[in-house]
Amino acid sequence: MGSAVTANGLDGVVVAETRLSDVDGERGRLVIAGHDVEELALRASFEEAAALLWNVPVEVAKNGIAEGRARAFERLGKLGDALELEGGMDAIRAAAAHFTEANGFGGAPAITGALAVCAAAWARKRRGLSPVAPDVSKGHAADYLRMIAGEGLDEAKAAALDAYLVTVSDHGMNASTFAARVVTSTGSDLVSAVVAAIGALKGPLHGGAPGPVLDMLDAIGSPANAAAWIEGELSAGRRIMGMGHRIYRVRDPRAAVLEKATQRLEKAGLSTGRLALARAVEAAAEGALRAKYPDRPLRANVEFYTAVLLDTVGLDRAEFSPTFAVGRVAGWSAHVEEQRAVGRLIRPGSRYVGAAPSSPAH
Ligand code: COA
Repeated sequence: MGSAVTANGLDGVVVAETRLSDVDGERGRLVIAGHDVEELALRASFEEAAALLWNVPVEVAKNGIAEGRARAFERLGKLGDALELEGGMDAIRAAAAHFTEANGFGGAPAITGALAVCAAAWARKRRGLSPVAPDVSKGHAADYLRMIAGEGLDEAKAAALDAYLVTVSDHGMNASTFAARVVTSTGSDLVSAVVAAIGALKGPLHGGAPGPVLDMLDAIGSPANAAAWIEGELSAGRRIMGMGHRIYRVRDPRAAVLEKATQRLEKAGLSTGRLALARAVEAAAEGALRAKYPDRPLRANVEFYTAVLLDTVGLDRAEFSPTFAVGRVAGWSAHVEEQRAVGRLIRPGSRYVGAAPSSPAH
């Protein structure tokens, strides 16, 4: 582990070696398990991406995730009031805590399947509907949508959601992944690592932004209002959701993937009209941020088009962040395996800036 303390705390300090993903912030390149995100997300299913991350045959990932969904559904009655919690991230965090190694959820495919079932069951509850049982013959993305919408499968929507889940499946040493690795490094179990990661992902600076992006698009309403609205937010000292990134100095490559996947949905006749608005808002926000921070490129991040894509496939904004976790759990659990193999406690240091004791050192 590196030891430098940078102006931004731990920025850039290498805390692990990984074969899972690489983020090149200068060039805007994301490699997931040896594949560019653009190439992987628009051709591979979530199960195929998970298999790459977990280094297992696709059938093992596919069957394991499906079986995880089926077994998790059987346990829904044993989750206390977790799924009645108002916030989706609170609900899946509380629900996930019940899926332990002892009850058969110690492996990556099982917890990945379980998280989708919990997120879908919570989404149904908040809509006043009872949970829908999984169909293990379906792909994970398609079944997740089915468990929420409870109706016939729309191939185009399932394909778009697949592209989304692959796109967000892993992303270097982000905050939630680091949290999962820290927990694992103490010798703790997979579920504890996933619960910690969900807590980190919940924050608006990490995975909590896509809902507010949609709120912003609603507030702006039409492309003609974009520039004035953005200016108003910036002069009030507020951040524009879906813009900026700690690592990327160019447009987040995942924004392009999700924009393309949403465009495919429009071509399939599924439009909410928000893609055109989003593009206008992105252009206005980019211009205004460039004027305000000429030395700091602040471009669209993954959350910007996540909001438009997930809205178009029919999810409510409250369901966006839990759906992020449904995809990212593949990466978290792969990092847990990798960290276990390292077998060493992560114990960063801190620089003491508090008061000195009055007595001399012993
Ligand atoms: N809107 C307005 N101003 C922003 C901004 C945004 N989206 N993102 C960064 N800035 C500002 C910061 O406030 C800072 O200004 P200051 O120097 O006057 O304090 C300046 O730009 C430089 O910020 P930077 O150091 O690049 O930001 P960061 O690395 O600390 O933050 C994010 C990165 C992602 C947390 C930040 O861009 C943000 O809050 N974005 C909005 C939330 C979001 O989309 N989150 C999802 C991330 S995938």
